[in-house]
Amino acid sequence: MSRILLRKLDGNPIKYRYLSEIRCGMVQATDEPDVVKLTKQHTYGTWRAQKSWIPREIVSAEGCYFTDASGQRLLDFSSQLMCSNLGHGNKVVIDAICEQAKKLPYVVPSFTTEVRARLTELLMEVVPKGLEKFFYATSGTEANEAAFKIARQYTGRYKIISRYNSYHGSTAGSIAATGDPRRYPIEPAGKMDGVIFGPDAYCYRCPFGLRYPDCGITCADYVEYMIEHESNVAAVIVEPVVGSNGVIVPPDEYLPKLRDITKRHGVLMICDEVMSGWGRTGEWFAVDHWEVRPDILTTAKGVTGAYIPLGVTATTREISDFFEEHYFAHGHTYEAHPLTLAAGVAAIGEYKRLDLIERSREMGQYLGKQLKTLQDKHPSVGDVRGLGLFWGLELVRNRKSRLAFNTREDKLQGKPMVADGVAAECMKKGTFINPWINYLIIAPPLIIKREEIDQGINALDSALGVADTEITRHRHGAISALHV
Ligand SMILES: Cc1ncc(COP(=O)(O)O)c(C=O)c1O
Repeated sequence: MSRILLRKLDGNPIKYRYLSEIRCGMVQATDEPDVVKLTKQHTYGTWRAQKSWIPREIVSAEGCYFTDASGQRLLDFSSQLMCSNLGHGNKVVIDAICEQAKKLPYVVPSFTTEVRARLTELLMEVVPKGLEKFFYATSGTEANEAAFKIARQYTGRYKIISRYNSYHGSTAGSIAATGDPRRYPIEPAGKMDGVIFGPDAYCYRCPFGLRYPDCGITCADYVEYMIEHESNVAAVIVEPVVGSNGVIVPPDEYLPKLRDITKRHGVLMICDEVMSGWGRTGEWFAVDHWEVRPDILTTAKGVTGAYIPLGVTATTREISDFFEEHYFAHGHTYEAHPLTLAAGVAAIGEYKRLDLIERSREMGQYLGKQLKTLQDKHPSVGDVRGLGLFWGLELVRNRKSRLAFNTREDKLQGKPMVADGVAAECMKKGTFINPWINYLIIAPPLIIKREEIDQGINALDSALGVADTEITRHRHGAISALHV
């Protein structure tokens, strides 16, 4: 039967329907421009060569599901870009944005608004104690840019220590501080100077070849060595639980030790909780697991449940006191934009009303258990790690040697990636999962139910066959575990 792009008579959604339905008058053909074609021809697809990009058109979303233009309903097992923590179609947040739009959508940031005061009050209830002054932007990368400027001005030093398995955003400072390959193509132009990279707290692929706990947390000690030998270090930036680069949970001693080292050297600790914040790990913020208070905490994504873009840079009183007499050299037209703040107020209310932090902890235990059963069944699953509703699967060609399927260079060169193949197979089975190099990021909305977790696990169980088959196709001997 022929299929044609049609709009339902009630106006939405656009769907591929059968011609028989037109004949029966159930639907009518339209001259709707081809959404995918226009998007592809005239807008950029991010982090990729453009030629092979065929964006899927999404028409609606509700709860833990979203629907594409063909009518396929997909379970959102990654909260889109690990940001739709409240799920889709949350009426409270949507209404709050609409109400604010009617009341006062925008004023110059040097004025203030009731909603700015309200969000600030609520933030102080949930961020680690002692973080008391905020800068509001509209993305995670901007939150980090503000953090770098603040740290450099406050300390009078300029070097920033970051780590190789990290992503901190796309703008000049944040991409410079990004250790993953998204940085490579823009070097040396287009990024700020002064970033150096230290070792990851990545036990599955320890950069020192050590084993926890005998390692003595050498990865933290080495940062101290760097601070001492580099000089001029303003700050160390870490994702407390690394996000897109594999959901790497550090050993328990790591963050407290890093806090101690940075404090002793008068170096600021910036914790990037753009992805790991907002209940994702089963606490309001990942640092809460280890009771660490950074000097600066940056966040975005879940702060509004992704209903509208908001980024936050939270600083201590000591830092803000410095700017009482020093020029705060930063700002944006859309800083403290009332619509973004209204969404933040409503979202925090929803995290509390729905008890989502506790729920993330509880459902996360179930999700983790189910994912670990997949590791038992599938030789391609090298490691399963996570906290709360934030889990990563690391795929390997050889479990014993930990040889990875693909390299960072493969990703940049647009080579077929095994993790992408598994994710594509999951989509066919109705579950959306974000892949990155050799990782699959499982981070569903915090409202997810057990049955929905089971549905995602079943899809993944069957899709992992793609990676298992790759192993049998290319039998390799042991190669360095430090392949990625
Ligand atoms: C840890 C981390 N920091 C910063 C960013 C950048 O945030 P945005 O994309 O909102 O600029 C991201 C985005 O994924 C992230 O995961």
